[in-house]
Amino acid sequence: MKLFAGTSNPQLAQAIAEKLSLPLNPIEIVRFADSECRVRIAQKVDDVKAVVIQSLSNPTDNHLIELTLIADALRSYEVEKITAVIPFLGYSRQDRAHRSGEAISARVAAKLLQAAGITKVMTVDLHSEAAAGFYQVPLMNLFGLSLFKEALPKGDIVIASPDAGGMKRAQKFAHEMGLPLCFIEKKRDLDKMHQTDVVRVVGDVRDKTTVIVDDIVTSGGTLVKAAYLLKEHGAKAVWAFVTHPDFVATTATILMDSPIEKIFTTDTIPVPNEWKFPKLTILSVAPLIADALQ
Ligand code: R5P
Repeated sequence: MKLFAGTSNPQLAQAIAEKLSLPLNPIEIVRFADSECRVRIAQKVDDVKAVVIQSLSNPTDNHLIELTLIADALRSYEVEKITAVIPFLGYSRQDRAHRSGEAISARVAAKLLQAAGITKVMTVDLHSEAAAGFYQVPLMNLFGLSLFKEALPKGDIVIASPDAGGMKRAQKFAHEMGLPLCFIEKKRDLDKMHQTDVVRVVGDVRDKTTVIVDDIVTSGGTLVKAAYLLKEHGAKAVWAFVTHPDFVATTATILMDSPIEKIFTTDTIPVPNEWKFPKLTILSVAPLIADALQ
């Protein structure tokens, strides 16, 4: 097995390499002034199983194309297999056409990766099971939420899914922890970007510490609106466990000023230091991924 990494998450790639006691093999990745990318695997790598670590995080298009170019460059040698470790598999949200005329981006991303020669995909908390269906190659979806087990607060707890789409994931976590579950009914206006409305809470949260469990936080809107609603319904405290910190510039402030007391996330996407805040704890998925690769 030979490890390679794209440019999206060098710290995580290094941590995985250290867990496996393997080096990261050098790749030349050059970005031209017009934003095009050139990739070269400088050392010959015949007869190996190549593992490429690359999150499809912001800037998603760049990281996606970079990964396909790395796979293509590896194929110029006689590699046996190419496993793409994609801790955050971007473009997984749109797995169907919600309105006529919409592209199904999860399907397009899957086609691109497979056309580039990737023979296996490993990811963490994939947004939707439907997106997995677009892969003809094996796709391993690791349960990232399991990392938060040790972080659970003490006392009377209820797990909350912030929308119906995340229900199965939250249910699995609640079931493994032996905890009750509730969910929030959320509405999205597809004509408005990053805007959702929470409608009602289904389940009992009164006087309980409610832990919202979700896969992605981007603007923070979903978490914060859910937190206010849970407090209105009598939740004693609100925490959040979210696998992928897909933050934008305003996310940290929105979360910091919210009623959420503690937020746990992972390093599937690097969070710049200036976007870190006291309520935030970041756990590493490196051991989970290294174990799965082993
Ligand atoms: C939605 O289906 C996802 O699971 C997340 O709840 C959503 O992507 C979070 O986005 P935001 O933080 O912008 O509300």
